[in-house]
Amino acid sequence: MEKNNSRSTFTSSLGFVFAAAGSAVGLGNIWRFPYLAAKDGGGLFLVTYVVLALTFGFALLTTEIALGRKTRQSPLTAYKQLSAKWSWIGIVACLVPAIILPYYSVIGGWILKYLAEFLTGNAASTVADGYFTGFITAQWAPIIWFAIFLLATMLVVYKGVQQGIERLSKVLMPVLLVLILCIAIFSLTLTHTDEAGVTRTGLQGLAIYLIPNFEGMTLSKFLGVLTDAMGQLFFSISVAMGIMIAYGSYVSKETNLVQSVNRIEFFDTLVAFLAGLMIIPAVYTFMGPEGMSSGPSLMFISMPKIFSAMGGIGIVVGIAFFVMVTFAALTSSVSIMEAVTSSFMDEFHLKRKTSVLLVTLGAFIMGTIVCLGYNLFYFDLTLPNGAVGQILDILDYASNNILMPLVSIATCILVGWVAKPKAIIDEITLNGERFPREKLYVVMVKYVTPIMLLFLLLQSLGIVK
Ligand code: PHE
Repeated sequence: MEKNNSRSTFTSSLGFVFAAAGSAVGLGNIWRFPYLAAKDGGGLFLVTYVVLALTFGFALLTTEIALGRKTRQSPLTAYKQLSAKWSWIGIVACLVPAIILPYYSVIGGWILKYLAEFLTGNAASTVADGYFTGFITAQWAPIIWFAIFLLATMLVVYKGVQQGIERLSKVLMPVLLVLILCIAIFSLTLTHTDEAGVTRTGLQGLAIYLIPNFEGMTLSKFLGVLTDAMGQLFFSISVAMGIMIAYGSYVSKETNLVQSVNRIEFFDTLVAFLAGLMIIPAVYTFMGPEGMSSGPSLMFISMPKIFSAMGGIGIVVGIAFFVMVTFAALTSSVSIMEAVTSSFMDEFHLKRKTSVLLVTLGAFIMGTIVCLGYNLFYFDLTLPNGAVGQILDILDYASNNILMPLVSIATCILVGWVAKPKAIIDEITLNGERFPREKLYVVMVKYVTPIMLLFLLLQSLGIVK
């Protein structure tokens, strides 16, 4: 492996933590975590999520980062170093980010469009009924905004690990944290009286978020909370798509991986928690207990309405919000592109620049098709989990619900049973580092994690309810 000596590295452990946290903190933290928390009993969901992060999330993240650093390879080629028979995981693990990159960048384009509307004083237009649908079903505008977002992603990846990814994350992540903290604090100060004369406050919303709600809780409902938290965590820590393997391969052998995994998870969970603190009180104050939604309808329909209801200051809060979301999305899309780019570099011995250009071209073509999924190529398809969707939703379903659990189940079997957990443990304790949860790690990777993921997979396929 002549390339190993010249492989890029992050300049410091902190640089790595910011880059990995940048990948982990994304749209999921902002538009899904708060919704699930509000739906699944507030504090009950939060506690479940944290327990899962410390066990299930910890096992998956540790495995991928250690695998990357051990093999010094990107996902496409890393798995075959553990076992030639299991090299197919690398192919699927590289296919996942290749599928996600185009549609994630399409959504990135929608965010840029809203940011531009807020910056140019057109915030009011985004509140009109049908504005969002009008925008995404237009022929050209979504493609142009998508292309801008993809280009920005490309420029960062083109500049490489240190000059591009690490530098960007070290600036954007702290700014993101400050922004989300400020908006969250502001959210808690809100109060509003609706037409019926009912006054609601941000602090009441906070109570809904934090206080565990056991009302009507049954075992089967709790299982629902558990799978929601597990699915969310799984997506949020950016595993099962080769990203953490690629980033792990750029980490120096001196870095303490246990500490890094803890920090990445802490940052990711903190931002998700703050997103709830920002969104739940605001939605509750202006829209009431029934107003909570997730995904694009929360981000592009409810939030603009809430900013508008705040009056003049809403423009400032809206700008801060969309800047923050842009940062979250960009650091994630950069990581997705890097996973594919580095795979092509390792497998086909391409230069970074050639590889980035190829990946961007492919993503541009696929992303354009995704945009046209709301226009020229419009159709409705009912997915196995009951949701009705367009091209974007189909790609999202195929990657998140099918391929990602598959990659992680296979990774657990490979590491737990074929290569044996010792392979990972040795990498983690390379310089004699302490690995306090070693026993837990072994049990998680061999038994608990693959079984939990299998359940998630069967649920996505509509086989279990
Ligand atoms: N983990 C990111 C989130 O929570 C999303 C993401 C998905 C990042 C795919 C990279 C790749 O939103």
